[in-house]
Amino acid sequence: MSAPEGIKPPPDRLYGRIKGKKLRPRQEWLLAEFLPRLSWPEVPFGLTPREIWLEVGFGGGEHAYALAEANPDTGIIAAEVFENGICSLLSRLAPDDVAEPVPPLNLRLFTDDARPLLRGMADASLSKLFLMFPDPWPKARHAKRRFVHPEHLAEAARALRPGGEWRIASDDPTYQAWTDEVLAAQTHFTVTRTETRPEGWPPTRYEAKAIVAGRQPIYWSLTRR
Ligand SMILES: C[S@@+](CC[C@H](N)C(=O)[O-])C[C@H]1O[C@@H](n2cnc3c(N)ncnc32)[C@H](O)[C@@H]1O
Repeated sequence: MSAPEGIKPPPDRLYGRIKGKKLRPRQEWLLAEFLPRLSWPEVPFGLTPREIWLEVGFGGGEHAYALAEANPDTGIIAAEVFENGICSLLSRLAPDDVAEPVPPLNLRLFTDDARPLLRGMADASLSKLFLMFPDPWPKARHAKRRFVHPEHLAEAARALRPGGEWRIASDDPTYQAWTDEVLAAQTHFTVTRTETRPEGWPPTRYEAKAIVAGRQPIYWSLTRR
């Protein structure tokens, strides 16, 4: 494992998959017609949010959906670039059997790279940031692609208010060791770390797959000093 210090800043290039399985007509409709009704930042929240939370890489969206349901007065921005994942969350919000789906007031989708989005957030404007099972990029030469990165830590610290929380989870041993190392080298956050999903953290699809495959997730909670 190379020390996090001295590695180059991560470029804003997306390396993971954006397109997957061919979309069905319903999914095409969701992207073309329903998504524009809850796209961030074009569509503001339908209420004045008590707090703003951001999830990076929501995957199938079950975690963002659960957060939005459990926290109706909080504005949640959920970011994902993988089309099939975006469609999964849209299908949850607009089930096939609902003729006239209505977007939730407190959930908005950002369907592009979350890194410039985070950089564009005003200082201390976020109360929570979620990074659940990020792509691990296990090869050392790909380390700069990892979201947990000294650059992003500084950016997240700037965007989070004092007392705000950044939740991170990973099941990948290389990413776990990397995260421990990056967190040990920073002073923006106090960190707690556990092998059991903390109370109030919704499960994710990727986490379920990891546990079935016998991998042990680690959960970090970072509090902005
Ligand atoms: C391993 S998946 C985990 C998905 C989900 N959080 C879960 O736990 O089931 C990581 C996701 O992050 C997304 N992602 C990676 N880089 C991103 C970026 N810069 N902005 C937004 N999403 C990103 C990927 O498309 C992928 O769906």
